[in-house]
Amino acid sequence: MVKICCIGAGYVGGPTMAMIALKCPDIEVVVVDISKPRIAAWNSDDLPIYEPGLDEVVKECKDRNLYFSTEVEKHVAEADIVFVSVNTPTKTRGLGAGKAADLTYWESAARMIADVSKSDKIVVEKSTVPVKTAEAIEKILTHNNNKGISFQILSNPEFLAEGTAMADLDKPDRVLIGGRETPAGQKAVAALKAVYAHWVPEDRIITTNLWSAELSKLAANAFLAQRISSINAMSALCESTGAEVNEVAYAVGKDSRIGPKFLNASVGFGGSCFQKDILNLVYICECNGLLEVAHYWKQVISINDYQKSRFIKRVVSSMFNTVSGKKIAVLGFAFKKDTGDTRETPAIDVCHGLLGDKALLSIYDPQVTEEQIKRDLAMNKFDWDHPQHLQPQSPTAFKQVSVVWDAYEACKDAHGICVITEWDEFKKLDYQKIYDNMQKPAFLFDGRNVLNVEEMRKIGFVVYSIGTPLDSWVKDLQVSI
Ligand code: NAD
Ligand code: UDX
Repeated sequence: MVKICCIGAGYVGGPTMAMIALKCPDIEVVVVDISKPRIAAWNSDDLPIYEPGLDEVVKECKDRNLYFSTEVEKHVAEADIVFVSVNTPTKTRGLGAGKAADLTYWESAARMIADVSKSDKIVVEKSTVPVKTAEAIEKILTHNNNKGISFQILSNPEFLAEGTAMADLDKPDRVLIGGRETPAGQKAVAALKAVYAHWVPEDRIITTNLWSAELSKLAANAFLAQRISSINAMSALCESTGAEVNEVAYAVGKDSRIGPKFLNASVGFGGSCFQKDILNLVYICECNGLLEVAHYWKQVISINDYQKSRFIKRVVSSMFNTVSGKKIAVLGFAFKKDTGDTRETPAIDVCHGLLGDKALLSIYDPQVTEEQIKRDLAMNKFDWDHPQHLQPQSPTAFKQVSVVWDAYEACKDAHGICVITEWDEFKKLDYQKIYDNMQKPAFLFDGRNVLNVEEMRKIGFVVYSIGTPLDSWVKDLQVSI
């Protein structure tokens, strides 16, 4: 029986290994992590991450051919294939701080693999890493290798999106495997291909050299984020000209060369990947002396920051240029629907902006706890993946924040509502009831374009929806943004 061990039981390691275990009953899969609470949660009925369809798959496979363990060294030593799916956050200190990927976790995993291995292994980069990382990892693995063990490194980046991870893993657009162009390298590529071939059609398994595979992952995320920044840039122009961003996106997306996906204007993209991976790409370009290329990709982040601050300015200026002492309901805190993940969520920036203007926030998200929200609002940028840098919470800010477990409660007596996550349940709320229980004039700021603007205006709300023509009210009160 082939044995797989995955280091890192997070948003990628957990679902990916669960899918391999489901589709490959002949393979034993062990997911290991240094975090004891995380492994305990995987071994309980209350999984550490919320992902539609994940519970069922884990239930079916756990203790059959899927195991979760903190005995990292033991399972690495026993495995034939070791996936490394640890976090690779943005560096917050030292050379490249604020841009470069922090490979501390990866390096310590590689050193541990080198130390405990007693047999040949295929080591698979599952984490998103800078191009050429495999070269460094190879050096670590083979350094001091007096045991005659052969390590083959493969790059097998993951393209799943949160909220749809299980569907993405079940029917991936493609699986990408990069390896050395040597006979041993190609043998390792074939071994990993055989794992995916249990359920992925062969024409969807792409094999390349190592560097193409590593760079393709950064490129794919940069292209996706660029689309969002492009439509968000258009949304600003729509608001100034009377065009409707949804209509523009539809018309543009009908061109088969462009396609309709990933053209939803929003308050800005969030998540643990886009910003981190583009910053990493920018850093790599700079290190290679490609300053114009670096500048080009940096603009994708600049427009995203602009979009978030534009939203905050619209809220404040519409409400007579101050939100001080006013209750504002924040509907949604996760970075997108169908996940409880809040990493780099635009909600953090919006809340900080409103708190800076002394608003009183009442926050509701169906999947995010009060503890998580308060922790996020207390953190400095990028610190979420560096627990050792966490700052003590600011008690003043927390007097201004309450977290509730019901959208109606959040909106009661509020002056305004900000929709930040596109949860389906927000489309189905009784907005007449919400309006009746709010202060007047009642403001509604839709950062996801999920509500029917005309219907909301008929109820009586003063409405701002990204990229749609402004209410005359909102228009008259705008400062220049
Ligand atoms: P995560 O933070 O959820 O999980 C990483 C896990 O690795 C943590 O549980 C941590 O405790 C563990 N870990 C760190 N160092 C370890 C070590 N030395 N030994 C054992 N365990 C260790 O991160 P994630 O979201 O799963 O992302 C992992 C990688 O996959 C990142 O490089 C990310 O960029 C990439 N990625 C993420 C997504 C996504 O949607 N989240 C999608 C594609 C790729
Ligand atoms: C992304 C990539 O899609 C995935 O392939 C990669 O493996 C990891 O990074 P993820 O961050 O989980 O996945 O979610 P995604 O669906 O890409 O959304 C990212 C952010 O962009 C979210 O905040 C989402 O709300 C926003 N978004 C997405 C938009 O604002 N508009 C869109 O049209 C699409």
